[in-house]
Formats: sequence, C-alpha cells, structure tokens
Amino acid sequence: MDAIGISAERADFFKSLTEKSDGGKLRGDYTLADAQYVVAQDWAAYTPEQHALWRRLYQRQAKLLPGRACDVFMDSLAKMDAADGIPNFARTSDLLFKTTGWRLVAVPGLVPDHTFFEHLAHRRFPVTVWLREPHEFDYIVEPDVFHDFFGHVPLLFNPIFAGHLQQYGQGGLKALQLDGLPYLARLYWYTVEFGLIRSPQGLRAYGAGILSSGGEIGYCLTDPTPRRIPFEVERVMRTRYKIDSYQETYFVIDSFEQLFKDTAPDFSPIYARLKQMEPLPADSLLPGEIDLPAAGRHAS
Ligand SMILES: [Fe+2]
Repeated sequence: MDAIGISAERADFFKSLTEKSDGGKLRGDYTLADAQYVVAQDWAAYTPEQHALWRRLYQRQAKLLPGRACDVFMDSLAKMDAADGIPNFARTSDLLFKTTGWRLVAVPGLVPDHTFFEHLAHRRFPVTVWLREPHEFDYIVEPDVFHDFFGHVPLLFNPIFAGHLQQYGQGGLKALQLDGLPYLARLYWYTVEFGLIRSPQGLRAYGAGILSSGGEIGYCLTDPTPRRIPFEVERVMRTRYKIDSYQETYFVIDSFEQLFKDTAPDFSPIYARLKQMEPLPADSLLPGEIDLPAAGRHAS
C-alpha cells in the first residue's frame, strides 16, 4: 500500500482547504502558500535525520527497481542524482526544464483539483515539501516528498510521458466543466499512479504509487492475485479502484506513445456514455478480455 495523493480523490477529499472529508486535517502547512498553493521548499530546514530517512527510503526502493521499473524510470532516476538526501527541487527543476520544459513547484501537500490541473496544463509538477516520519516508512496516507519526487518526477524527463501529463491537466480543466472528474480520476489512478507497461523483457511498472512502494512493486508484477488487463481508455474510466489496499487490477500499456495517443481525443462523448452506465468493480474481467499472467511465471 502506498501514498494516496491523487487528484482523483481530491473532490471527495476536501471539505475546505485543509480539512479532509473525514474531518481530519491535512498534514501540510498551508499558511505561506500563494494563490497557486506554491511555497518555498526551504531546503536548508530539513534536518540530518530527515536526509538520513530519505536515504533509507531511496536505498530500499533502488534495490527493488531492477527488473521491475520501466527503463525510462531507471534511466531518469539515475540522471536526477537524488540518492544522498532530500533533493533541492530547484536543481532538479532546472535539469528538467532543459529536458522537457517542465518545472517542479513546491506545495504544502494536496492541492485542489483546479489548481492541480492548472499546474499540469502549464508543465509544472507540484511536489510536496514534507517527509514522512520514521514510523511511516512503509505507509503514508497522504503523499509526501518521497512519493511525489521519487515516484513521479523521473517520468517527467520522458518527452512523451511529459506530454501526456500536460494533456491530462488540460483534460482535467475541461472535466471540471463536464462533471467528468470521477472518470478522469480513474484514468490517473490506473496509469500515472498504478500503471504497468510491456517491455521486451516482460512487464514493468511505471506508476508512481507502485514505484515508491516497498510492497506493491513486487506484488503488482509477480503475485498471481491481481488482474493485469490491456489498457483501454473507456474501460479504465469505468473501473472503480481501491485506495486502502493493493490494486485488484492493473492496466497494461504497450508504450507511452499508446498512452499519449489514446488519451488525446476529447473525452466528452466518453463521459456522456459512462454517466449512463454503472461503474465496474475493481476486480472485473469482461468477456473477451485477457488477464495477462504474472511476470516470472510466463513471459508477457
Ligand atoms: Fe502520486
């Protein structure tokens, strides 16, 4: 199980700026945030203990990545040079801007949907500034800097994925007008957070929720329990997901080009159709669908 910090959940999540739907408070300090919820990272304020915790998180995850993370993630993570402590966002942001034209912006934590989509649509990725506590090593409820930075930032160095995410932000702004958010949220969940991709060597993970998780990174690829179904936009948008357990279904793309192309069209007709249909349970398998075998048992 991993950080849950998805635009997906935010519509339900926020009753007000810092209050969750269950009445609990969001973790971050929003008092200094600007109108776009951007704050200064204040890198000098991180303690040696926090940098040490980051290193432990990084090292644990880095050992799990080979043979499980997609090549793009592996290559970009190496370039980011972020193993030694909580990274200074400005440094990575400059490198990222030179590569794909994206920037990182520091935020106190979850931000409202509209703000999140605005950032993505303008090639800005919001990264939470705070780090989990040592007792949260394996699980946090809200996304922290490790989830956001380690899990999400590497793929932003890939021009096609980065283009997809900008497209997603633009689509999010439209979805707000069309009551399409629940559908778009499922797309984000099953791709950006929990997506799998085929490779010549077999299935690999590219979703940030998987790649920043110590447990799900193995489970999603090799456990026989979950379904692994070829990606199809409308099917994904119709499928509920679990936020408090490992996924019951993972959707598998062939390539980032496929993700970019398949999510480029206007979703308005899809939203209209889906509003007339019941959502599918997270563990559904429809007639004619292929449930791909777990990695390690058969080549995919
Ligand atoms: Fe995330």
